[in-house]
Amino acid sequence: MTRLFEPWRIGPLALANRIVVAPMCQYSAVEGSAGDWHFIHLGHLALSGAGLLTVEATAVSAEGRITPGDLGLYDDANEAALARVLKAIRSNSPIKVAIQLAHAGRKASSRAPWEGGAQIPLGEPGSWRAVAPSAVAHSPGEDAPAALDAAGLAKVRDDFVATALRAERLGFDGIELHAAHGYLLHQFLSPIANRRDDEYGGSLGNRMRFPLEVFEAVRAALPSSMPLWVRVSGTDWVEGGWDIESTIAFARALQGRGCHAIHVSSGGVSAQQKIPVGPGYQVPLAAAVKAAIDLPVIAVGLITEAEQAEAVVASGEADAVALARAMLYDPRWPWHAAAKLGARVQAPHQYWRSQPREFADLFEHARFGAR
Ligand SMILES: Cc1cc2nc3c(=O)[nH]c(=O)nc-3n(C[C@H](O)[C@H](O)[C@H](O)COP(=O)(O)O)c2cc1C
Repeated sequence: MTRLFEPWRIGPLALANRIVVAPMCQYSAVEGSAGDWHFIHLGHLALSGAGLLTVEATAVSAEGRITPGDLGLYDDANEAALARVLKAIRSNSPIKVAIQLAHAGRKASSRAPWEGGAQIPLGEPGSWRAVAPSAVAHSPGEDAPAALDAAGLAKVRDDFVATALRAERLGFDGIELHAAHGYLLHQFLSPIANRRDDEYGGSLGNRMRFPLEVFEAVRAALPSSMPLWVRVSGTDWVEGGWDIESTIAFARALQGRGCHAIHVSSGGVSAQQKIPVGPGYQVPLAAAVKAAIDLPVIAVGLITEAEQAEAVVASGEADAVALARAMLYDPRWPWHAAAKLGARVQAPHQYWRSQPREFADLFEHARFGAR
């Protein structure tokens, strides 16, 4: 038995293996609502054999979208559209499905990556004024966001709660709060984006205050049976920015508030970041968090090979691995990993006949018959 294919848990959520499909924005929604692309994209990933499928960063408000095409879950139409997608997945796959809830903060009002990804300047069609901890633009020359005042903070908090309740009502198996990649919650954490001089800025405790308030409010609103965890950036990769010691302090604070897991990514808050990109480059950050807390930890970032994923889990550096690009490139990655590692995986019965001869025991429950 490989460790990668051992069952594990995120709090109350039992998962068949330790492969997580990472959240991946598709920038293909209309007014926040999922459409045909989401059926195709999530539909085929739901057949991947991964233990958990995470739906892309889903905005808690229209102004919290990164681009006009971001998925949202802030109104009834968004909820009805996602309900249809989830129903299609549920009726064809046993995969567990989580949703990542997000607010883009000062990175809002952007173009899709395939349109260049730049900020849409204020006044141009599709633009809107972003909100953030401080009126500091992400990059020089960009329109600065509006700094959130007390009413604005309360609205963001309430939006996270309302969206989490919609996700719960839809029957998602878990909720991941996005506090990584330079989006709003990370902007509060990082001294690069947070220049406030009130109780939400300055010291580490002050910078963690708003993300922790959001976590607490969401946790309190959900039933205790609803798994809730947080994705963090383990470092900004910028001198003087958010770092791994701060991440550990944040993870400990989350653990104390009933968080079920920590998903460790990195970067995103500053164009000055110097990321040492390479295979498994964020795994040491996950391992540092794992060593410091008593919660499951998910590692992510250029984990592309079955043996590499197995080693991350078997060494105890993390409890699970998340894959993004490798899953797009090869949506049956978990099947191929199971074949390589001598494990078994769930595949839809319609596809059982594809099981290669040399992996005669690959698909769980597979039966072949004809007359
Ligand atoms: C197309 C695409 C969309 C992404 N969207 C999100 C997102 O919605 N939320 C998020 O936290 N990370 C997002 N990411 C980052 C991935 O979740 C992941 O952390 C990153 O790609 C590194 O993992 P990988 O090397 O396996 O791709 C995205 C990545 C890609 C390639």
